[in-house]
This record gives sequence, C-alpha cells and structure tokens, in this order.
Amino acid sequence: MNIKIRLTTENDFDDIIEVEKRAFGEDSVAELTAELLNDKSAEPYISLLAFENDKAVGHILFTKCSINNIENCPLMHILAPLAVISEYQKQGIGGLLIKKGLELLQKINSEIVFVLGHIEYYPKHGFIPNAERLGYPAPYPIPAKVADAWMVQPLTSKGLGNFGQVICAKAMDVAEHWRE
Ligand SMILES: CC(C)(COP(=O)(O)OP(=O)(O)OC[C@H]1O[C@@H](n2cnc3c(N)ncnc32)[C@H](O)[C@@H]1OP(=O)(O)O)[C@@H](O)C(=O)NCCC(=O)NCCS
Repeated sequence: MNIKIRLTTENDFDDIIEVEKRAFGEDSVAELTAELLNDKSAEPYISLLAFENDKAVGHILFTKCSINNIENCPLMHILAPLAVISEYQKQGIGGLLIKKGLELLQKINSEIVFVLGHIEYYPKHGFIPNAERLGYPAPYPIPAKVADAWMVQPLTSKGLGNFGQVICAKAMDVAEHWRE
C-alpha cells in the first residue's frame, strides 16, 4: 500500500467527516470532530489525513489541553479521535498517523499528550496507562475498572511535570465524551 499522510486544510472537511463516520459506524464522533475543528479553545490543533492514492482512509486529531491552576501552562494535547475506515484497519495506518502526529506535536513544542482509548493499542505507541495515578486526573472521572484507558506520554526529555487536573477543549468538555 502507498500511504501518504498530510496536515488537513478546510477543503478536507468532507473527507474527515466521512472517514470518522465509516470508522466508528455512527455519527457522534464525526459530530464531535466537526465541533473540535471549529473550536478556538482546541487550537493549536494537529489534524492529519492518511490517503491511499487519492482516497482518504484515516484521520487523527490532537487538540490543545491544559492543567488547571497552572500559570503559563506549557502546550499539551489530547489525541481524539483516531479513525481508520474498516477495510483499511490492521495494516499499520493507525500507527503511522500516531507516529506522524507525535512528530508534529514535538515540532510545535507540545510537551505532553494524553489519550483515552484502547489499552492494548496505545501503549505500543509510547502511551503510559493510568495517567491519573501519575498525577493527571482526566477532565471527567474515569471509572476505576478502566482507569488504565486514560494514558499519557511525555514528548520532551524533561519527562512528565506540571501535574494536575486536565482541562480539555470546550467541545470535548461534556461528560458523555469521557465514557471509555
Ligand atoms: C483503533 C484504530 C484506529 C486502529 O487503526 P489501525 O490502522 O487498524 O491500527 P494499526 O494497523 O496500526 O494496528 C492495529 C493492529 O494491526 C496490526 N498491524 C499493524 N500493521 C500491520 C500489518 N502491516 N499487517 C497486519 N497487521 C498489522 C497491529 O499490530 C495491531 O494489531 P494488534 O493490536 O493485535 O497487535 C482502528 O481500528 C479504528 O478506526 N477503529 C474504530 C474507531 C476506534 O475505535 N478508534 C479509536 C478510539 S480510541
């Protein structure tokens, strides 16, 4: 497969929404994605599409977050959502999108990235399970039995720091988006 990954532009909106709908098999994540792409509090965000030839087959979004009560909080991001359309899953495209996204986050000096997601998947890409135990409670409480699904990864040699409650972009700041 010949997969190319690039930053999205306004012209890619329809492709992004289509990929989100097809990957998740319903519309709610696509709707959240549309809101996040228009949410000033999510900026600077990193939005990437993966293409096979000219066909959009995967999308990843990292939106800005911060830590409550920390003045001049360094740049931090939340990975959500990650989507690969079903016919193209399990071929490494999700992994490529994560890798490219982490590289671009480092380029814009983002220091920490969080994700709420599959516990078997994200640790393969450097995420550490149970970010709350490490000092970063999620924007909404994560039930103890799935605490490992809230994960963190430092992006600089400084490692983790600036501990505290994570505050997400406004569009994501709704309890229903925090049920793993
Ligand atoms: C979760 C999701 C994004 C993963 O994307 P993906 O492109 O399938 O992910 P990858 O191919 O990088 O990795 C998935 C699996 O394929 C395997 N894989 C990677 N490259 C492969 C290759 N060339 N050949 C065969 N298998 C491969 C990986 O090892 C992994 O398998 P494992 O977890 O059993 O070890 C995708 O399944 C998806 O969109 N799901 C629906 C939406 C969703 O749940 N999003 C995530 C919310 S947290």
